[in-house]
Amino acid sequence: MTVVDAVSSAGAGDAVAPAADAAGQPPAAGNGQTVCVTGAAGYIASWLVKLLLEKGYTVKGTVRNPDDPKNAHLKALDGAAERLFLCKADLLDFDAICRAVEGCQGVFHTASPVTDDPEQMVEPAVRGTEYVIRAAAEAGTVRRVVFTSSIGAVTMDPNRGPDVVVDESCWSDLDFCKKTRNWYCYGKAVAEQAAWDAARQRGVDLVVVNPVLVVGPLLQPTVNASIAHILKYLDGSARTFANAVQAYVDVRDVAAAHLLVFEAPAASGRHLCADRVLHREDVVRILAKLFPEYPVPTRCSDEVNPRKQAYKFSNQKLRDLGLEFRPVSQSLYDTVKSLQEKGHLPVLAEQAPELEAEKEAAAPAAEVQQGGTIAIRA
Ligand SMILES: NC(=O)c1ccc[n+]([C@@H]2O[C@H](COP(=O)([O-])OP(=O)(O)OC[C@H]3O[C@@H](n4cnc5c(N)ncnc54)[C@H](OP(=O)(O)O)[C@@H]3O)[C@@H](O)[C@H]2O)c1
Repeated sequence: MTVVDAVSSAGAGDAVAPAADAAGQPPAAGNGQTVCVTGAAGYIASWLVKLLLEKGYTVKGTVRNPDDPKNAHLKALDGAAERLFLCKADLLDFDAICRAVEGCQGVFHTASPVTDDPEQMVEPAVRGTEYVIRAAAEAGTVRRVVFTSSIGAVTMDPNRGPDVVVDESCWSDLDFCKKTRNWYCYGKAVAEQAAWDAARQRGVDLVVVNPVLVVGPLLQPTVNASIAHILKYLDGSARTFANAVQAYVDVRDVAAAHLLVFEAPAASGRHLCADRVLHREDVVRILAKLFPEYPVPTRCSDEVNPRKQAYKFSNQKLRDLGLEFRPVSQSLYDTVKSLQEKGHLPVLAEQAPELEAEKEAAAPAAEVQQGGTIAIRA
């Protein structure tokens, strides 16, 4: 295992130029290139590191403590022994970020607090992002920076009409975020603005991915915030569901989107990364249909107001780059199986293997129909 702290990772930045193989074929994408992934052990970043290693990249992944057992899943990835270097870095430590970015051709800045506590959220998100852009500019080797922003920087606008199609031109209203104490969205929106400003000032090629709520299987051992959003409907901790809508996307598609916008020379600007918008009632119905053994809530907490309507959105930019989004029902199925495998959810009923196979095959077709009913098409 050659997973080391950046301080002792001499050579990790000495990338060699891609060369044709013996048969004269061009090298696989990533061959010979070194990229930095900040917050490498997080939910999205772990899938991104896995994908980058599979594609032949050498990865310098930042974590706060390389020796923490919570990074073990990264060290076990195919290719990690040869091409993953864990670098100790906090977002507020500029020198450590510079060491991690040194020698890299690309930087994926995914690290961010994910919290509504303003003290913990805003400064690391914003100043950390400025540091990453500055480190990329000063390194002199970085071709492009990909920043993981959020739908939180896009949709929080009380003045948007119901027929407006949410796309990359939309920005959250900072005053509204503050007034509603939505410090996560506030922090992400200000961090994204800071990224664009810093990139412009320093001449850095920046592209941004704006994922919606991310679901799908976990590589890391712990439950992150977006997976907790699903887990609460299965473990009995939520007795009701909210009268609310939310867009969803699979974590494997989010990782693929990051790589696509890094590799496609023509990619530019922001990229809304979303499969579809569901009401919470749709989510709990899909879960209950696929996993009836869990105490999934059946009652809305709001029995007074009309049912919230889904907003319209466009994911055309990523689809134009070739991304095909997994259906959210498949992602929800895979989320639950992963939570079971990692011990976060008990496997309640011993299912006959043929029944499980049937359920798995049906998952992508568990669909929301008009009026909110769910049908499983076999
Ligand atoms: N999951 C979603 O639904 C979703 C949707 C849209 C956008 N995003 C964005 O995607 C990115 C990754 O989120 P995720 O869902 O994968 O969350 P996650 O699993 O909580 O990962 C966040 C990562 O950031 C690191 N981090 C936080 N504060 C840090 C600091 N001060 N210094 C260094 N590292 C720090 C964390 O390290 P520790 O483990 O040491 O805390 C962790 O590795 C974030 O930018 C988030 O805003 C997520």
